[in-house]
Amino acid sequence: MLTAALNNGVTMPLIGFGTYQITDETQCRQSVETAIEAGYRLIDTAQNYGTERFVGAAVAGCGLKREELFITSKVWFRNHREGECRASVLRSLERLKLDYLDLMLIHWPFGDVYGAWRDLEALYKEGLLRAIGVSNFSPDRLVDLINYNEVTPAVNQVETHLYCQQKTAHEWLVKYGVTHQAYAPLGQSRINDMFALPAVRSAAENHGKTPAQVALRFLVQQGISVIPKSVHEERIRENLDIADFELTDDEMEALKKVDAASPMIGTATDPKRVESAKNWTSREL
Ligand SMILES: NC(=O)c1ccc[n+]([C@@H]2O[C@H](COP(=O)([O-])OP(=O)(O)OC[C@H]3O[C@@H](n4cnc5c(N)ncnc54)[C@H](OP(=O)(O)O)[C@@H]3O)[C@@H](O)[C@H]2O)c1
Repeated sequence: MLTAALNNGVTMPLIGFGTYQITDETQCRQSVETAIEAGYRLIDTAQNYGTERFVGAAVAGCGLKREELFITSKVWFRNHREGECRASVLRSLERLKLDYLDLMLIHWPFGDVYGAWRDLEALYKEGLLRAIGVSNFSPDRLVDLINYNEVTPAVNQVETHLYCQQKTAHEWLVKYGVTHQAYAPLGQSRINDMFALPAVRSAAENHGKTPAQVALRFLVQQGISVIPKSVHEERIRENLDIADFELTDDEMEALKKVDAASPMIGTATDPKRVESAKNWTSREL
């Protein structure tokens, strides 16, 4: 299994399984069970997805020891206040039926991020969270958080795929020892021609792999963790099966050139995005 050593010494699988938008209980539970059976050991959920209960049920019945799994969740920004963040993490643990989380992230850099971070630092020190991190943080917000707090985030989970490679952000993450985790590593299937790009197709043909495997391997080969989602067993297995080939330097260079630095989900540095976030809802709080 490919792994990353986080900045606090915790080992995290580099490839994980995402659960965003798997809102049907049976489908989510079965997908997570299939993923664990296929060999995934990292499962990504969030208060906002409403999938913590389904992940908890799948984990409880999977037959593995708790320490063999790495479970990540995220605090929704309506819980960003000292005390409220803590209470929400305890609710997440209850929904997941877990005694501890391997990684808890601040989902978006909105509201009282500092209050939320102080709660996460305390829960980390108490051992309820093995690692704490952030998501959707631009380099400036990340450095600010690091400068004025005790614990440096272990992970920043940001939209990263062939069309949005986050090259500058990656350099800042490396500089501060924060592991880069890619969400939407397959472009959420919304970027239709990603798998048809000549650089992707030729690398796939060269290695007898699929375009999706090339897109994921491209990130993993740079030490970037990926958490693809699928509700189909064949794809769940396919997305994990990327440890047995290596893209050549030329292939990596060709793939780097397709970057459009174009986020599909949007960034927290866009005031319109921050404005609209006031109306975002969460499935669980
Ligand atoms: N921190 C954040 O703000 C944030 C935001 C978004 C996502 N995330 C996390 O990141 C995870 C992954 O991102 P995502 O779910 O948004 O998008 P994604 O993993 O990039 O793409 C998922 C889509 O790709 C399809 N797919 C999966 N494997 C495929 C394959 N081998 N070939 C072709 N198509 C394939 C899936 O379809 P089927 O399911 O039909 O197979 C689904 O439509 C999420 O599930 C979530 O855990 C975090």
